[in-house]
Amino acid sequence: MNSMNMSRDIIVDWQAQHEHLFGQHAIRLQHRLIETGLFTRESIGRLIERCPKSHLGLESVSFEGDVHKRIYGELGGASGLEAIAAIEKGSMWMNIRRVMEWAPEYNDLLNRIFTEFESRMDGFKTFKRNMGVLVSSPNAKVPYHADIQGQSLWQISGVKRVFVYPRSDIFMPSKNIEKILLRETTEDMPYRSWFDEYATTFDLKPGEMLTWPLYAPHKVENHDCLNISVTMEHWTKPIWNSYAVQYGNGVLRRTLGLKNSSTRDHGIHVYPKAAAAFLWKKAGRQIEGDVVKTRDFRISSESANGRVAIS
Ligand SMILES: [Fe+2]
Repeated sequence: MNSMNMSRDIIVDWQAQHEHLFGQHAIRLQHRLIETGLFTRESIGRLIERCPKSHLGLESVSFEGDVHKRIYGELGGASGLEAIAAIEKGSMWMNIRRVMEWAPEYNDLLNRIFTEFESRMDGFKTFKRNMGVLVSSPNAKVPYHADIQGQSLWQISGVKRVFVYPRSDIFMPSKNIEKILLRETTEDMPYRSWFDEYATTFDLKPGEMLTWPLYAPHKVENHDCLNISVTMEHWTKPIWNSYAVQYGNGVLRRTLGLKNSSTRDHGIHVYPKAAAAFLWKKAGRQIEGDVVKTRDFRISSESANGRVAIS
């Protein structure tokens, strides 16, 4: 990153109305992440090699007849650049998790980005920020789901179509949000193909970022090209309060059989400090990487589909 770039804003086309729209509506903005030099193929290759094993997620899907099963992979002896080449010709996705914890220059960038947002939005204060890099194959898909914290997706390379659905009980009932928060489900949610008619779609191109309302369901489909994207997560006090309320309602509904719990995110419904501290720990644990014990495949840039099975 040179000093000239350091003095420039990361978001290119911020306008006054975005302060009101951020977190409430899907908004697409132009960004300058590519100019930092931290996301070239070579930089990402090095990042893959630096990534602690526990933070490198590699997944694919295997088909047995009509049944598809999520399978997990490992880097093996592949270099970072070989891994990217393998993903480019295969059907996989790689999640380089929590980059800010073990790569200081990315932590600096993450702080710079949120400092910029905070300076532009009055009262917007974030914590527990997270940055990950996602390298995914042509035509890879992320199924319909919702997330528990503020989200943004920053496109570096390739194009992906993002479907953002209305945040309403029709598309994501409160009890499903509670299930996500209580970790009773994987985040894949009941989905009907007619939902797409009501989605706002974005073909996210290099240099564009997208953010959407809290809990808004979404799905992602890569175009027919390798995709490199950066995912960021953040918490704010209102997001945290909403989490505590929804989580509390979920627990109450299960223990007392309450049907009409309030989802107000302020006032007496917000949990007292002690309970919140307990929930806090849980949230911290939830956003850490999953520890996968068995590996089904290994990266192989020579193989036609970029991987070999581990027997
Ligand atoms: Fe998501």
